[in-house]
This record gives sequence, structure tokens and C-alpha cells, in this order.
Amino acid sequence: EKGGFDHFMLKEIFEQPQTIFDCMRGRLNSQAGTITMAGIQQHADQIINASRIVIIACGTSWHAGLVAEYIFEELCRINVEVEYASEFRYRNPVINKGDVILAVSQSGETADTLVAIETAKEKGALILGVVNVVGSSISRTSHGGAYTHAGPEIGVASTKAFTAQLVVLTLIALKVAYMKGAINDSRYKGLLAELDLIPEKVAWVLNHHEQIKSIAEKYKDARDFLYLGRGYNFPVALEGALKLKEISYIHAEGYPAAEMKHGPIALVDEQLPVVVVATKDQYHEKVVSNIQEIKARKGKVIGIITEGDETSAALCDDVISVPEADEIVAPMLSVVPLQLLSYFIGVAKGCNVDQPRNLAKSVTVE
Ligand code: M6R
Repeated sequence: EKGGFDHFMLKEIFEQPQTIFDCMRGRLNSQAGTITMAGIQQHADQIINASRIVIIACGTSWHAGLVAEYIFEELCRINVEVEYASEFRYRNPVINKGDVILAVSQSGETADTLVAIETAKEKGALILGVVNVVGSSISRTSHGGAYTHAGPEIGVASTKAFTAQLVVLTLIALKVAYMKGAINDSRYKGLLAELDLIPEKVAWVLNHHEQIKSIAEKYKDARDFLYLGRGYNFPVALEGALKLKEISYIHAEGYPAAEMKHGPIALVDEQLPVVVVATKDQYHEKVVSNIQEIKARKGKVIGIITEGDETSAALCDDVISVPEADEIVAPMLSVVPLQLLSYFIGVAKGCNVDQPRNLAKSVTVE
């Protein structure tokens, strides 16, 4: 049932070109310029007129929510807040009638997320679910939303569910932006075309897995890792660090690259691998200067860079390339090498990558 792969985690990482395709199938028609999502369309007026969107989630799903915050604010010009479900539910949050809550969950059973949306529902908010498991508690409690259709995810570390969440959240943002008239036609059409290309670009990254494996073997004995990114790729840095902690038990922290100088740079020495997501986007130059700051302190830089970017490559100790893409969709690509890096480090250390110690697939206790 692992389909010839050694672990479910690897199988699920490699399924992503297909799961991303499945997630867009029947929804995205880039030729016609349409996005069909009945569970969003039904609530169109309320979403377009929302004074704010509150995204509620835990763990990896929370990271998908953070990416969505950047995308919604950019494309829809709606104020977005992203909340850890566990914090939100216990602090007597302010919820107004016009608020739209987006609950993001792979399992649809995460206790903290479920209780948080029930609380918000009682206070009159519209609840939309972005959930993978059909018929799960969170999907049943929601007024609407959209399934991620990534298929069953067995590995405790979430991989294909995350990229499917990014796709669904991006589709929702594009649909809302279009209905609201907040996006111009050519940007809208351009992004739909970009989405169409994601499955083959993810496949391209997967085809380079051997190179990621050798980088993993080189750094597997490091005690700590730092992950840095900016903008749309900042949450990808958080996700890369979480994946490494779960799978290999190596301490890792994700940071927005610019925060380095406010503390974490003190950690940098010749022992510290720093994974920097430095793909070509509006922040690229700034990220390159962050790489230079790390190199000046003898840190080891593993750069996730855009294919063909020789200038950035020359600054890094090791590089992993991803195909060029619009920055809005870039996290769907840049997270994939980080999933593989964690996987290969975990395997090289002899860890149980499918069932890491102390973790459960769905956290149904608070
Ligand atoms: O099922 P959910 O998406 O609600 O789960 C949320 C987290 O428990 C989950 O993402 C967890 O952090 C994963 N183990 C991450 O790989």
C-alpha cells in the first residue's frame, strides 16, 4: 500500500503533482477564466463584504493559513488574522457578526480547531472549512468551504495536505478577489495560468530528489538548523523547521529573514546550517543580503533558489533549485525540497519517519 515507496511520507510527497492536479480539477478553468467552488459561491456576498477574515488552525495547517494571509491581503484587500486555534479559543476573542472564519485542517478532527470554530459560530460568524477528510467534524460544523481532496494522508508529518491547502486557499482568494473586483483581468488570468503549471513544476523538483538526499547526508549530524524566508516564503521557513523537528528530532527554528538581526544571528557559526528560501520575488535582493550576513559569520547556507540563478547559487554552500513561478504560488514549490530534506535526514538518522515519537496523526485532545 506504500506503492513501492519505503515510507508513506515519501509516497505522499511524490503524490503531490497528482494531488495538486486533483485539487484544481473541476474547479479551475484557466481558459474560461473561471473558478467553480459552490461552497464559497453560496456565501459570496458575505465574504466579499467581510470586514475581516480570521484563519484558525494548528501546526502545518496554521502555516498554510499564514501563506493565505499574505495572498488574501494582497489580492482581495481584506484584513486577515491568523490564529492558533488553541490560543483563540481560550482568550474570549472579539467576534463580530460580519466576520468570516476560515478553519484549515487536514483531519477535520483537531479538537482545538473544532472548539474554536464552534465558539465563533455561536457568536454569529460565518464558518468556512478548508478540510481534507470528507464528512469530518470540522467540515460538518462549517457553513461552507472547500475540500482539499488530497486523499488519505497516513504519514504523521503533513505534506501533500499542506500543498493542497495552499492550492484551495489560493483558489478561494482569487475567486473572492475577482468577485470583489479587486484584481485586474490580466493579473487574474496570469495567476490561473500559473496554477495550471504547478503540478509539472512540482514533478520537476521531485525529479531532483537525489541531490537533496546528498545534501541531507552532509548535514544530518547538525545539532540545530535555522530556516529563513521572507514574504510568501516566510511561512515556508516555519513549515520546513517544523518538518525537520518532527521527522529527525533535530532542533530547528524558522524565522522571517529580517528578524535574524534581532537575535537569532547570535547562533550563527560554522556549525549551523541555515536553510534560506531565496527564490526570485520582490524580496529577493533583501534575502541575498541576509545570505551574505550568514556567510560573513561562517554559517553554512543551503539555498532554495530559482533555477538558473547562478548569482545566488555562488553565495551558498549548497543549493536546491525550483522552477521559476509567480511569488503568489511560489510556496507550493519551495516547500517541496524542504519536505524531502527532512525526510532524507530522518531516514539517514534511522528515525521512524511515518510515526515520529510522541505524535499522533490527529490531535483530538486539547
Ligand atoms: O489535522 P490538522 O490539519 O488539523 O492538524 C493540525 C496539526 O496537528 C498538524 O498539522 C501537525 O502539526 C502535523 N503533524 C504537522 O506535520
